[in-house]
Amino acid sequence: MADNRDLLKQITKLKKEKNAIILVHNYQRPEIYEVADFIGDSLELSRKAAETEAQTIVFCGVSFMAETAKILSPNKNVLLPNLEAGCSLADMITADQVNSLRANFPEAAVVSYVNTNAAVKAVSDICCTSANAVKILNSLPNDEIIFLPDKNLGSYVQSHTLKKIYVWDGYCSVHQDLKKQDLISFKKEHPLAKIIAHPECKKDVLEVADFVCGTGGMAKYAENNDSSEFIVVTECGMTNKLRDDVPEKHFYSFCNLCSFMKATTLEMVLKSLQENKHPIYLPEEIMNKARNSITRMLALA
Ligand code: 13P
Ligand code: SF4
Repeated sequence: MADNRDLLKQITKLKKEKNAIILVHNYQRPEIYEVADFIGDSLELSRKAAETEAQTIVFCGVSFMAETAKILSPNKNVLLPNLEAGCSLADMITADQVNSLRANFPEAAVVSYVNTNAAVKAVSDICCTSANAVKILNSLPNDEIIFLPDKNLGSYVQSHTLKKIYVWDGYCSVHQDLKKQDLISFKKEHPLAKIIAHPECKKDVLEVADFVCGTGGMAKYAENNDSSEFIVVTECGMTNKLRDDVPEKHFYSFCNLCSFMKATTLEMVLKSLQENKHPIYLPEEIMNKARNSITRMLALA
């Protein structure tokens, strides 16, 4: 098996030859950061996917992110190195279920978290990410909102709006399984540390956090805050990224691993470039409808 240095060299060479860029989510393995053209949160990655001139996008993240890239750049070759890199949260709702919700709440706008499959985005009015959910919701004219699929993000948004929100009962098990009492015990070991939590965590966990934000907002908060120590409450990979971005501060992980985010390896990235694995294909009608929901979000955010 080739060592990492050899893999990095081969990937960098092939990337140039194939006019490809590699987009990497913050939760990916640290060795994947090494081949990234850009590392970021869901919102930043969708922006990069929309504006790149490269012909091929290798997406090191999960399938809904690669689908979003394909929807925004339908003429580009978007590759997901490992087809097992799904998202259990995204799989918790189908387009048929969204249509039934619409029938039950006809006055409500459908806001879907970007962690949804393309078919769900296609029947939504607008998308949002953890970075812009409150802003998107509050910018809509509707007083009633169907928010899906994450109930924890939905409850967080409800606490920042006067609108009536109907929340779908989905969750991310990586965040759902992080417990408030364990966090309080962990904090006792690091009493001076500020707690930064992702809004996919449960409400009681968010109540003990000093700051709640998506993965893209964490470095900025740590940089600008007086504290030199932070407890990072989300997927474990985020701490690596924060240590890279803000090396002068200390970060402690209170986290779970996402097996989907960790499913991509350097070997798979190389193979994806060598053998064009695995191109994202989506029906044109779904892409066109889903694009409306995503571009509306990008315009508002
Ligand atoms: P961010 O948009 O905050 O990067 O989150 C994506 C995600 O999958 C969180 O579990
Ligand atoms: Fe999906 Fe949760 Fe993994 Fe994010 S952390 S990709 S929401 S399963």
